[in-house]
Amino acid sequence: MAARWEAIDGPAGMAEQGLDSNEGLLRQHGLPPPAEGPLPEGAPLHALPRPARDAFDALLDARTTCRNYDPQASIPLEVFSGIMARTFGRRGSGRPAPGFEVIKRTSPSGGALHPVECFLIVQRVQGLAPGLYRYRAAEHALLAVAPQVAAPVAGDVGTRALPAGEAATAWSSESLRAFAQIAVAGQGFFADAAVLCVLAPRFHRNFWKYRNHAKAYRVCILDAGHLSQTLQLCATQAGLGPFVTSAINEVDLERAFGMTHYEQSPLLVCGFGPRAGTLVESEFDPNRRVWPR
Ligand SMILES: Cc1cc2nc3c(=O)[nH]c(=O)nc-3n(C[C@H](O)[C@H](O)[C@H](O)COP(=O)(O)O)c2cc1C
Repeated sequence: MAARWEAIDGPAGMAEQGLDSNEGLLRQHGLPPPAEGPLPEGAPLHALPRPARDAFDALLDARTTCRNYDPQASIPLEVFSGIMARTFGRRGSGRPAPGFEVIKRTSPSGGALHPVECFLIVQRVQGLAPGLYRYRAAEHALLAVAPQVAAPVAGDVGTRALPAGEAATAWSSESLRAFAQIAVAGQGFFADAAVLCVLAPRFHRNFWKYRNHAKAYRVCILDAGHLSQTLQLCATQAGLGPFVTSAINEVDLERAFGMTHYEQSPLLVCGFGPRAGTLVESEFDPNRRVWPR
């Protein structure tokens, strides 16, 4: 609960401290610890055979965090549906006891419980009204979510609860974009993604098995991380740019999607969409798998 943010602008906060660039970090803190732990002196190294490359290597190497989305381009419904099915869909199921169901996904999950649900900010998918949704694995379907906060406007850093007695209304694409930017704590380059996925575990599903258990919360975090990597690979395979961030405004997301924070709360936001034609924000593509195209 202490790690949850509300109305935080991450890049602005880092810039205020002069920590928004490697130059600033190096100036203030010197070099980071090396990329790998040091070798013990004289220890022999066992060289491994050089692996043969195949198509899977090409896919793995093409995954690069996208910070340059085309803010106009949309995704065909079939492509979106395929990424959802491969990442969050039910590939099979088991029934250990009557009323107790576990689902098989393409990512592992502690206790096979898969407590993580995917909520969506859909900005540009052909044939799908822009808005907030919840993905249902059982039916491979979306449930529209009526936003539980007032429609944000560009420049807002946080959300406001709906005024008493006011019913939720559908948002304009500008409000949705403003909300996406709040979701990713002011990182506008991620807010331009066609689709943003909010991964939020239902803690009580996991805590049913891992009771008063030192690893229970850790398992939820790891589950979300696995799903994010699977989503990134599926999006890359579809020719789209993926991202993940843990710099998110959890409290604003809970408020908008109507989550009760001790029952369900976001751990990360990942997403995907068509890349822009030009590189403006930096991406880490040292082997030129993505840029220049
Ligand atoms: C848990 C996690 C949180 C991240 N948060 C951010 C973030 O807040 N902003 C950002 O620009 N990138 C974020 N990233 C992306 C990393 O910066 C990126 O993975 C890293 O630079 C390596 O580049 P690559 O993903 O292209 O290999 C995050 C990645 C992970 C795994």
